[in-house]
Amino acid sequence: MRIILLGAPGAGKGTQAQFLMRKYGIPQISTGDMLRSAIKAGTELGLAAKRVMDEGKLVSDEIIIGLVKERIKEDDCKDGFLLDGFPRTIPQADAMKEAGIKVDHVIEFDVADDVIVERMGGRRVHPASGRVYHVVYNPPKEEGKDDETGEPLIIRDDDKEETVRHRLGVYHEQTKPLVDYYQKEAQNGNCEYHRLDGTRPVDEVSNELSTLLG
Ligand code: AP5
Ligand code: ZN
Repeated sequence: MRIILLGAPGAGKGTQAQFLMRKYGIPQISTGDMLRSAIKAGTELGLAAKRVMDEGKLVSDEIIIGLVKERIKEDDCKDGFLLDGFPRTIPQADAMKEAGIKVDHVIEFDVADDVIVERMGGRRVHPASGRVYHVVYNPPKEEGKDDETGEPLIIRDDDKEETVRHRLGVYHEQTKPLVDYYQKEAQNGNCEYHRLDGTRPVDEVSNELSTLLG
């Protein structure tokens, strides 16, 4: 199964990706996580990406498309994958199509901007695994620690309110057009398109996904 998770920053893509990975045994391809690993490793790509990400802007299409194409060639993607945070612009979606990478389901997470700003203030992440928590809505078993490894949780550099608001602006301008794009793809029989209410509790959203995907 090949799935695109589409939605604003903080809409819950990473959270539901963890659920879907376990349920369907397919890997999560999070371009954000890939970039953060590159930053941590101190690679040239990481150095270039850090500045852009800290400002809440998008990394260039060319770099991102290259990263995803390479990742999809890997062995664990042959039975499917979850794209989390990609595509994020029309050129990225076009590049995927031109490369012959088809998807079965596009899932849009609908969440209002104000809810997102509140969520981001409480987000904590475990960078090594991509697991995501929220101090109130999805707390770890032990405060400040990852459930599985006990390692410390961190606050992402781009979760400052000012940066979050900027990222939301970028989403509305550059990513939202993909809603129309994939609805048209669905009308042409190229994929299924689902919109879900992402403001409901994490478990309810997961249950709806299970129903949708079977
Ligand atoms: P990326 O890492 O992809 O960030 P994002 O898309 O902005 O999305 P987030 O990870 O912030 O949110 P999410 O939807 O995964 O929400 P989460 O589940 O964590 O990208 C970061 C940066 O990298 C970009 O700004 C850009 O610079 C660059 N980049 C990445 N991909 C790119 C691309 N394709 N092209 C160009 N540049 C790219 O949840 C958020 C919080 O809410 C958590 O605390 C969670 O616990 C909580 N929560 C989740 N669901 C619920 C719920 N149902 N109820 C209550 N709380 C909830
Ligand atoms: Zn995420």
